[in-house]
Amino acid sequence: MRVLVIGSGGREHALCRSLAADPQVTEVHCAPGNAGVAQVATLHPVVQTDPAAVARLAGELEADLVVIGPEAPLVAGVADAVRQAGIPCFGPSAEAARIEGSKTFAKEIMAAAGVPTARSRTCVTPEEAAAALEEFGTPYVVKDDGLAAGKGVVVTEDRDEALRHAAACGRVVIEEFLDGPEVSLFALCDGSTAVPLQPAQDHKRAYDGDLGPNTGGMGAYTPLPWAPADLADRVMTETVLPTVTELAKRGTPYTGVLFVGLALTPAGPKVIEFNARFGDPETQVVLDRLATPLASLLLACATGTLDRFGPPSYRDGAAVTVVVAAENYPADPVKGDVVEGLSDVTGDAYVLHAGTAFDGDRVVSSGGRVLSVVGTGPDVAAARAAAYEAVGHIRLRGSHHRTDIAHQGI
Ligand code: AMP
Ligand code: GLY
Repeated sequence: MRVLVIGSGGREHALCRSLAADPQVTEVHCAPGNAGVAQVATLHPVVQTDPAAVARLAGELEADLVVIGPEAPLVAGVADAVRQAGIPCFGPSAEAARIEGSKTFAKEIMAAAGVPTARSRTCVTPEEAAAALEEFGTPYVVKDDGLAAGKGVVVTEDRDEALRHAAACGRVVIEEFLDGPEVSLFALCDGSTAVPLQPAQDHKRAYDGDLGPNTGGMGAYTPLPWAPADLADRVMTETVLPTVTELAKRGTPYTGVLFVGLALTPAGPKVIEFNARFGDPETQVVLDRLATPLASLLLACATGTLDRFGPPSYRDGAAVTVVVAAENYPADPVKGDVVEGLSDVTGDAYVLHAGTAFDGDRVVSSGGRVLSVVGTGPDVAAARAAAYEAVGHIRLRGSHHRTDIAHQGI
């Protein structure tokens, strides 16, 4: 099987690595990829959000499966173009990807499907925003309706700040604050049914103790020893299957990963957000533990044959990933610094590249999140120790990482 992965981050490095390990896979290609992905896949330059260009590349490579990593190509209709070219594609259509692309649409689907989530209102005018803030009270949660690259959500006690964010965004969803630990659950969907992957937890704030600005994610771990044993089953029954059924009923079947961001509230798991793609860096740890061959599983989704597949299986033990971020991430990350020490990482740890590029034969930083260092072990504590031992070998001028990843898991 020849597989083409679209994207260039740590998530795509993890996907390519797992795909390459599937005995069914003969070739892994990635476009555009990064310096680390080049170790496990053949790289191709492409404009990720150009549907015709991606479909053409998939055709030229005679790909048997295309896997789309980030949200931007999905929302741009890349999956539609690939499927129109007759190539199986893991990733939702532009219509179905609106579940991430429009918070209002996501709320509409959840309401129709009876999915537990925060009560909310879509607001356009300052008067509507003020009334919604009044209705739900503090902490105020104000979300840009559209894709905002991680900068769309403001959670604040400050009414003026909430109103300013609403005014700056134009169209916003204002909602009830959900109290409880957050969990990421990925469900693999084939248009009519779905299976869950193992739940993981991300750390979104830049600094230790969940302080500092929101980021794409500074680290993650799986499994979650503290989570209820029936969590994945419950979320499948209450959230994922009703959502997949609702989208199919509307003529926009969902093929790909439905990423459910949950708050485990006293009243049970409630949806904070849907994403139309794998989470980064949760994917790095979830795929590390997955025993089921990945390409075969994703192809079953892309071809609507998941029901013949059975639930995915896992290797015992745990995985923890620590993101090494560039100086001044997330505000304005510094790029172009040399990354050293990569070959010193051995044993129970390995390095996935996120924002890296080649400068001659040197690896240099090219993005905010530069590396995703993965540690593994028999339990979360051991995996965490392996990850931090490995981070200690990495040298990148000005870089920073959190030192408390996975502390809740121990
Ligand atoms: P983002 O990844 O930019 O969408 O950030 C969303 C983050 O905002 C989540 O991870 C939560 O921490 C927080 N958040 C969003 N909606 C709510 C909510 N209704 N209640 C509590 N926290 C929320
Ligand atoms: N790690 C959260 C995300 O990918 O949005």
